Amino acid sequence: MSSLTEFLAAQQQLVDQALDRLTPPESALPETIHRAMRYSLFAGGKRIRPVLCLQAAVATSDNAPGALEAACSLEMIHTYSLIHDDLPALDNDDFRRGKPTNHKVFGEAMAILAGDALFTLAIQTLTRIDGLDAARKLALIEELSFASGTVEGMIGGQVTDIEGERQTPTAELLDRIHRAKTGALLRASVRMGAIAARGDTQQLEAISQYGEHVGLAFQIVDDILDVEESSAALGKTAGKDAVQGKITFPAVYGLEASRAMAQDECRKGHEALRIFGDRAVRLHEIADLIVDRKS
Ligand code: IPE
Ligand code: IPE
Ligand code: MG
Ligand code: MG
Ligand code: MG
Repeated sequence: MSSLTEFLAAQQQLVDQALDRLTPPESALPETIHRAMRYSLFAGGKRIRPVLCLQAAVATSDNAPGALEAACSLEMIHTYSLIHDDLPALDNDDFRRGKPTNHKVFGEAMAILAGDALFTLAIQTLTRIDGLDAARKLALIEELSFASGTVEGMIGGQVTDIEGERQTPTAELLDRIHRAKTGALLRASVRMGAIAARGDTQQLEAISQYGEHVGLAFQIVDDILDVEESSAALGKTAGKDAVQGKITFPAVYGLEASRAMAQDECRKGHEALRIFGDRAVRLHEIADLIVDRKS
């Protein structure tokens, strides 16, 4: 088996090629929006959500029509959430994925529209999957739209995150923000892979548990990296959470306890994979990577 680094590079290439195929070319009219969408899509994201989706499919069965399209739809939604997260009205960030943010290059109007467009492209991508029955396509759309939505989903989490800047940080609020703004889409990533692979109830339950644990661990680590790493290492402005009064794990629990909590979520993620045996080798490795990463 290839090393994790080689494996991830190959998976990222697979995802990038599919994203390129699924996204209108820069030459399509109106050109500006397609340039803006592609600028952020191909700025150099880690592709964690697509890889989780593909590997959840592998853990579930040998045949998962639509897993690659599902993986791309997750990256489209994620990229849209980042473009909007960086807007002056939200986190007001100038750098993302090592480059100037979308609104810095294309202006706020185009950045808002590029985010909106990636959302609609994600849904369209799922409706057009070849070789997948309508019921399963619908299940994928339901999964993705729920995870992106206002009730325990990404947008709901972003709302609580923004409103939280003026509130006293509490453990309860912190948990709610992180599970929604980041955890929901990570959980959906593995669930969508398992759905494409026709997972049964037991497999879906186990993969959901894994997704919830690594999803929470992912945002705990994002908060820690914001404190500990440089902007150059992260490809985005470090140290902003404290300045903006964000409700984060380090703010509520301190760095050391936060690290231990991320490790604990990772351990629970590993446990949840037991029923998949050797088929989940890569999911185990990705859980460790999520906690050990430096960017
Ligand atoms: C950053 O996500 C935003 C969060 C939800 C924490 P990633 O760390 O996955 O960012 P990219 O996709 O690699 O740029
Ligand atoms: C972002 O959380 C979550 C979403 C984009 C939904 P953060 O605001 O912490 O992400 P970064 O640190 O800017 O990547
Ligand atoms: Mg934010
Ligand atoms: Mg941000
Ligand atoms: Mg952050």
